[in-house]
Amino acid sequence: MTSSQFIFSIYLLTFALSLQTIFGASPLFHFCLSSAGNFTTNDPYGSNLKTLLGNLHYQTPPQGFGNSSVGSNSYQTYGLALCRGDVNATACETCVNKASNELHKRRPYNKGAIIWYDNCLLKYLNTDFFHQIDNQNKSFTWNVKNVSNPTTFNNKTKELLSKLAKEASVSPKLYEVGELELSESNKLYGLVQCTRDLSNSECFTCPDTAIGELHFYSDGKEGGRVVGGSCNIRYEIYPFVMY
Ligand SMILES: *[C@@H]1O[C@H](CO)[C@@H](O)[C@H](O)[C@H]1NC(C)=O
Ligand SMILES: *[C@@H]1O[C@H](CO)[C@@H](O)[C@H](O)[C@H]1NC(C)=O
Ligand SMILES: *[C@@H]1O[C@H](CO)[C@@H](O)[C@H](O)[C@H]1NC(C)=O
Ligand SMILES: *[C@@H]1O[C@H](CO)[C@@H](O)[C@H](O)[C@H]1NC(C)=O
Ligand SMILES: *[C@@H]1O[C@H](CO)[C@@H](O)[C@H](O)[C@H]1NC(C)=O
Ligand SMILES: *[C@@H]1O[C@H](CO)[C@@H](O)[C@H](O)[C@H]1NC(C)=O
Repeated sequence: MTSSQFIFSIYLLTFALSLQTIFGASPLFHFCLSSAGNFTTNDPYGSNLKTLLGNLHYQTPPQGFGNSSVGSNSYQTYGLALCRGDVNATACETCVNKASNELHKRRPYNKGAIIWYDNCLLKYLNTDFFHQIDNQNKSFTWNVKNVSNPTTFNNKTKELLSKLAKEASVSPKLYEVGELELSESNKLYGLVQCTRDLSNSECFTCPDTAIGELHFYSDGKEGGRVVGGSCNIRYEIYPFVMY
């Protein structure tokens, strides 16, 4: 990721988070993949994209993951959708629909875009991005509250997330959640999830890289998360998913 993309993401994220507080249903974050370019109203890319989004809407809810490609040559579009591992089919469908409507509203003519919500991720692009770790399109959020013992705490977050990354990488849904005791009354909760186009080893590498980047923003913070095009990780000191 270039530093400008990086800073841009932080700026947008702060904005998105403040919106989320107000409206609840707002996306965590979205990117237009502007280097992919735009299409015009009569471009077949537009109708291919529409078909693609329809496919994802249909494919994703039952398994929590969908991937599709529509069209050929310069009009071909590729896309995937992923719901958080504990989200049921109904809620998954709602989220994927919302994501696709929202991108259509915000980025009507972009050939590529990504959007994240708490419950799902939707991404499409005019090139084949399957089976590759997306290290570029990534954003970071954190809880502003500081913990009292950052060194030990950071160690614990790493320990938990690294363990979850190992487990997620060999699990059928490439998804794992878990907890770690911090003290008698405090626990740490974590989540690791990859898009299911990744191989097992890629699904270890992607979150492992993100864990290595956590300290840029979340060092000693009560919560942190990294959402990317291929994986996401999160830790909090309260439970945030259903088991
Ligand atoms: C693509 O469309 C966006 C508006 O959606 C516009 O801001 C941008 O300049 C366009 N990019 C190109 C390369 O035409
Ligand atoms: C979607 O993923 C499955 C499983 O990896 C693969 O067999 C299929 O070819 C993919 N679809 C597209 C359009 O790439
Ligand atoms: C699916 O999850 C939503 C949100 O957690 C919940 O309100 C709903 O009752 C669930 N539906 C089913 C069929 O379990
Ligand atoms: C990430 O986004 C950029 C544009 O910002 C796009 O060109 C690139 O293909 C994306 N990377 C991947 C691996 O999908
Ligand atoms: C957390 O610590 C940092 C630096 O150690 C400080 O700048 C920041 O104000 C603290 N945040 C809160 C919410 O106390
Ligand atoms: C952090 O973990 C490393 C090994 O994982 C260990 O050597 C070190 O003592 C730990 N530090 C603290 C403060 O817990």
